[in-house]
Formats: sequence, C-alpha cells, structure tokens
Amino acid sequence: MKKEEKYFNCVDQNVLNVKNKVILVNGATGGIGYSLVTYLSYLQNDLYLLVRNLKEGDKIKNELENKFHNKIEVIYFDYLDRNSLLNIIDLVKNLAKVDYFVNVSGIYHQPYEIINGIEKTYIVNFFNPAFLINELLKINKNLKIAVVSSITSSTKLIRKTLLLSNAKNFVSTLNNIKNKHKRYALSKHLLSSYLLYLKENQNRNITLTHPGIAVTKLFDKKNKAYNKLFYIFTPQIMKLIFMDSSKAALSILKGIDCDYTPLNKWIGPRGLFHSWGYPKIYSLNKNLLNPIENKQIFNLANKVNEQ
Ligand SMILES: NC(=O)c1ccc[n+]([C@@H]2O[C@H](COP(=O)([O-])OP(=O)(O)OC[C@H]3O[C@@H](n4cnc5c(N)ncnc54)[C@H](OP(=O)(O)O)[C@@H]3O)[C@@H](O)[C@H]2O)c1
Repeated sequence: MKKEEKYFNCVDQNVLNVKNKVILVNGATGGIGYSLVTYLSYLQNDLYLLVRNLKEGDKIKNELENKFHNKIEVIYFDYLDRNSLLNIIDLVKNLAKVDYFVNVSGIYHQPYEIINGIEKTYIVNFFNPAFLINELLKINKNLKIAVVSSITSSTKLIRKTLLLSNAKNFVSTLNNIKNKHKRYALSKHLLSSYLLYLKENQNRNITLTHPGIAVTKLFDKKNKAYNKLFYIFTPQIMKLIFMDSSKAALSILKGIDCDYTPLNKWIGPRGLFHSWGYPKIYSLNKNLLNPIENKQIFNLANKVNEQ
C-alpha cells in the first residue's frame, strides 16, 4: 500500500463527494483496481468488491479493513459467468443503499477465443458490462456509474455498414477481427458508445475515464498474448517509462468524484498522449460522439444480450 500512501494528500485535496458512500466495484484484484479501492477505503466508503478470485478478494478486504476500518464485502463475480451478474443484480435490488457502481474489470490483448459464439474480449469488455450497467440502472436510475475505458476507445469502427446492419452481422463482424489490438480498442469504443447513448437519452449519471498507461497484470505472462521474449523485457522497460497504478487510479477516482460530466467529456491524465499526469477533464474524440451510431450500438448490444 506504500505507493498509494504517497497520494493521500492529493486525494484529501481533490476528492469532494466520494466519502461515506456505498460503492460496488469490480477489478479490485488488478493493478488499478487495487489502488482505487485503497483510496476509496481511505475515504471511508463501504465497498462491495466484485471479484473472480475470492481468496485474493478476502486478502484485500482484510488488509484495507484493518487499516481504514471501513466495511468491505467480497462477492464472487465473473464477466464470463452470466449467473454471477444476475446475483449482483439481485443484491442491488435488496440493498437499502448503493451510490456508485465502478467498472474497472477488463482484459487487454489476449489470444483469440470464442465463447458461446462471441469472442472473449467483447464479452468481458463490452457485452456483459453493458448488460450489467443497463440492468443496474433499471433498478436504480440515480446510481452513479464510472467506467474505466481507454484512450484506444477513439478507434474508428470497421466495416460500419455491415457491422451495424443487424445483430448477427454485428457479432460476426466483430468475431472476424483477428488483430488483438483492434479487438481491444473496439470493445472499449463499443462500451463507451453504449454508455453515451444511455447518458444522453435516459439522462443517466455516467462518467467515462481513462487511467493513462500503467504496467499492471494486463501485461502478465499468464495472459499468453505475446511471445516469451516480450515478457522478459517489455514489462520491465515499460515500468521505467510509465507511471504505476497508484497514480493511474487517481483519474478513476476523480471520475467517480465528479458530480456530473457533460456528454462530450471524460477524465484522464494530463501530459503527452494522456499517459502520465494528474487527472484532468478532456473532450471525447469525435469518433465516439455520433448519436446515430451510438443508438444503433445500444440496440444491437441489447439484442445480442437478450439471446
Ligand atoms: N493498465 C493500463 O495501461 C490501462 C490503460 C488503459 C485502460 N486500462 C483499463 O483499466 C482497467 C483495469 O486494468 P488494469 O491495468 O488494472 O489490469 P489488471 O491488473 O489486469 O486488472 C484487470 C482486472 O479485471 C479483472 N478481470 C479480468 N477478467 C475478468 C472477468 N472475466 N470478469 C471479471 N473481472 C475480470 C481482473 O481479475 P483477476 O485478478 O481475477 O484476473 C483484474 O481484477 C481495464 O479495464 C483496462 O482495460 C488499463
């Protein structure tokens, strides 16, 4: 926790609203998520950690509760297990109070894998987060949502006419992309578009954020995204160049703390390529601000999710 402690002053000076709240957050077992839940605990929020790895979740709970004396519950959650999402929806129905849902979970460049007809990157980074957030907002329209997106979300849609023609072509066009960089960027674009439609048309309180670049478990060799040589050198070199997760998580914290961000804005780090600095509010790339496309993406994702 030492690396987070050096930013507690910055947190004290900049966070106005996220204190003594009830927050559901996933991805806490990852690099940015762990730093984020450390700040949220420091700020005396009660947390529900939605995690795949319960042992790791319990370890984080014990560490943070001992240090900050906030209340933390650990709940099993996996974007590849729809039943676990339905349990979270039931939980929210029965909770007396919940203020925020923060979506941190995500996968990066991973080997191509089709699960139930859809490539894994889109399930974890787009279809199931869209499903969960939409359902949570049906239960509680005042729930504030903060989502960790990526600067890559501004990527252009490919083969747009075919992609957006119907649900079958939507999935097959996405599945046909064999380039893992493109799949990741598209999954982030599609989730952002989906949420921007919800934000604009249903007036929901949703904030998109970008953490910058931080070397986290995204570059873990267990993901088997690159060859062995990559894992020997690249993460080490990146650690020297980029910031660590404790600084990256400040942009996510700022995104949660913002009372409301205008439709065309998001929060990410200052500095060259938005990679290193302290948080700032930015304009979204115009590729994400096409209301007609965003509406089509919203409807197509809902259709796929119903099936
Ligand atoms: N690091 C960067 O430079 C960077 C840049 C831009 C955007 N981001 C975004 O930041 C977010 C956090 O990433 P990170 O850098 O902290 O990576 P990380 O250390 O790999 O953390 C990813 C988190 O997502 C969880 N996760 C993975 N698959 C999941 C699934 N099927 N269901 C539920 N949770 C799942 C992981 O759980 P396990 O611990 O169980 O694996 C982990 O808690 C991601 O959305 C990522 O796209 C990161």
